Amino acid sequence: MEVWEGEQPIPRDRLLEKVGEIDGLLCILSNRIDRKLLERAARLKVVSQMAVGLDNIDLPACTTHGIKVGHTPDVLTETTADTAWALLAASVRRLPEGQQAVKDGGWGSWDPRWLLGGDLQQTTLGIVGLGRIGTAVARRAQGFQMRVLYTGPNRKPDQERELGVQYCPLVKLLRQSDHVILAAPLTTHTRHLIDRETLGMMRNKATLVNVSRGGLVDQEALWEALTKNQIARAALDVTDPEPLPPDHPLLQLDNCLVIPHLGSASLRTRAAMARLAVDNLVQGLSGRAMTAPAN
Ligand code: GLV
Repeated sequence: MEVWEGEQPIPRDRLLEKVGEIDGLLCILSNRIDRKLLERAARLKVVSQMAVGLDNIDLPACTTHGIKVGHTPDVLTETTADTAWALLAASVRRLPEGQQAVKDGGWGSWDPRWLLGGDLQQTTLGIVGLGRIGTAVARRAQGFQMRVLYTGPNRKPDQERELGVQYCPLVKLLRQSDHVILAAPLTTHTRHLIDRETLGMMRNKATLVNVSRGGLVDQEALWEALTKNQIARAALDVTDPEPLPPDHPLLQLDNCLVIPHLGSASLRTRAAMARLAVDNLVQGLSGRAMTAPAN
């Protein structure tokens, strides 16, 4: 077994060099598993990703090469939904601006008009992608007595029955939601789903939260929408690229909260993800069914 001990992900050329010698690979979402890599991976039988999202992996190419792929769904669902809510609440109630003011000595006497934000309770929440994480987000919305709309490729009758969520097309969801949470995987269909046109459909007081992948949002269009107050605020756990350079224009905005891809970052959940990734790897290499196969 060889372990990359670096603080940063293994450099692409090191991985390309090594991949010809290995039977199994435990990787993270910053490693690109594409055709170029697979062509060099003569012995590779298993790729086990410690993440649920698979957009960094060319899944059809892995299948063609006879390589089994595993990932880590379920164990991170609740923690990621918590992160979505943390971002939503912090952003709606302008907590980062408040903290900055406290640190900068900008906290004067109590002012009834200062740092007024939006509300969570009794508002309309739109969820783009009612998969595992989207559903966990919707469950939390019940506690805030929200009306919940969702959109995605398929209707989800079970969730509609159990959680009272209503299906609607993206356009209607954007027009009617006070808060929009993106929880859909990055695919060719969802890349830049949120662009100039769709941002233009959102409410002026709306909040946009992204806990899926940065590629869902056209960031230039988002910057424009935030500076022109076309939407009120955004809170992003994910960006494109990652890391986002510290001088990126989005980071200059008070109404944009950005955190460094922390969706599943609780101690318990990261331990469960590591465990599942190792299980998938060992199961795949020993010819057994993986706990969480992706192909
Ligand atoms: C994290 O983003 C994951 O896909 O697990």
